[in-house]
This record gives sequence, C-alpha cells and structure tokens, in this order.
Amino acid sequence: LARGDLPADLAGHRVLITAGGTREPIDPVRFIGNRSSGRQGSALAATALARGARVTLVSGEVSVPPPAGAEVVPVGSAREMREAVLAHSAAADAVVMAAAVADFRPAETAAGKIKKTGAGPEPVELAENPDILRELSAERARPGQVVVGFAAETDDVLANGRAKLDRKGCDLLVVNEVGDGRAFGTEDNQAVVLGADGSATEIPRGPKEDLADRVWDLVAQRIPEGGA
Ligand code: CTP
Ligand code: CA
Repeated sequence: LARGDLPADLAGHRVLITAGGTREPIDPVRFIGNRSSGRQGSALAATALARGARVTLVSGEVSVPPPAGAEVVPVGSAREMREAVLAHSAAADAVVMAAAVADFRPAETAAGKIKKTGAGPEPVELAENPDILRELSAERARPGQVVVGFAAETDDVLANGRAKLDRKGCDLLVVNEVGDGRAFGTEDNQAVVLGADGSATEIPRGPKEDLADRVWDLVAQRIPEGGA
C-alpha cells in the first residue's frame, strides 16, 4: 500500500508503544545502557497515527524525535518504564513493546559519584529487572487487549522466537534476525511475526515503517470491535 492509501483501521483505538533503550543508574552520572535508537518505536508510532490511532509512546533513551501527535511519556530505567506502561495500559487496545529493556540493573545506585580510591575498581553487582512484557501479557489490563513483543535472535531464530513467545505469553512476537550489522541502528529491518495462534508471517527486508505497517495489519485483525 502507498502511504496515502493506508486504511484508517485504527481509528477509535488507543495504542501504547514502548521505544528506545533503558538507562540503569550506577551513580548520579553513570548508567548501564544499550544501543537502541528508538527508530522502530518511532516508526510504529508514526504509522499508527497515520492509520487513525491515538498513540501513547513510553520512551526510553532515543536518537530520533517522536512523531508529532503522539503523547510522549519519557522514562529512564526499566522499573520506570514498567510503572509508566502499567499506568497507561488500561486505556490501550494494543500494546507494542519495541523498547530494548535492560535485563539487569546495578543492585544499588550509589548516592554520590563513585571515586577512584587507588585500590582498584569495585565490582558492580547486578539485579534482574522485572519482565514488563510477561507481566502485561499475564494480567491484561483490558479484555481483548492485543500485546506484541519484539525480539532480536541469532542461531535458530524461529525456535528461539517460538520459545520466547510461549514464555512471554503475548499474542504476537516480532522476531528480528540479527548479526552482520542488521537491526541495531540500521534503517532497514527484516522479520518474521509469530502468533500465539501458531501463525508465522514473513516480513521482507525494508524500511522500519513497512515493518510497522505489517505489524499494525496483524494487530488490527485481532482488536475486538468497539475499542477505547
Ligand atoms: N522485555 C520486557 N521487560 C524486560 C525485558 C524485555 O518487557 N525486562 C520485552 C522487550 O521490550 C521485548 C521483549 O520483552 O518486547 C523481548 O525482549 P528480549 O530481550 O528478547 O527478551 P528476554 O526475555 O529478556 O530474553 P533474552 O534473555 O533473550 O534477552
Ligand atoms: Ca533481554
């Protein structure tokens, strides 16, 4: 479909999208982060707006601006992202989690800047972050809510993706094959979307907007009639 021919099939629906990377504080000036650019989340927001949705974008650290018209909720850490997602999910007919959430955070955040002591570095102890996607999938804030995750996989991409979909309990999992400079920080994405109904939809390599539109196609089919 050309841009101008997009269906307004998300009109009357509210969607919640997470984007970007979380920052897990070590001390007031340092954090553990990742290379997520937020481009896929931004493309999802822009395409949802173009299809008539109202969009809430829970945004970690990103290197692209959010599309005009999205309600942006900025967050830092994974735990802040969880709070924001839970606070906004009850109003959403669909939740698409494109953010790169840190699996681990420093177990403690130092109140003051950590200084060199001359005795060598102290190890940073890590703690596991809450799994936002799994929690949201288990406790749907709204009947019929469609929950979508994103995963980057290597090796046996389909088997890993299917196992992850089952573990997360979401409706759809967009699985990107990574390696050779694909996915992270690039313009193009190639993916297969696995469904809890057993479906597998190949999405050819192309711009992140095209992948976003195919994801919304699959989401729109699954949203019950009469949304928010
Ligand atoms: N996710 C989440 N909360 C976390 C980690 C991940 O909500 N603490 C979400 C991501 O936003 C993404 C999906 O779960 O939509 C899959 O992320 P991924 O890192 O692939 O899943 P993990 O369970 O962390 O598996 P892995 O050990 O492969 O990193
Ligand atoms: Ca992870």
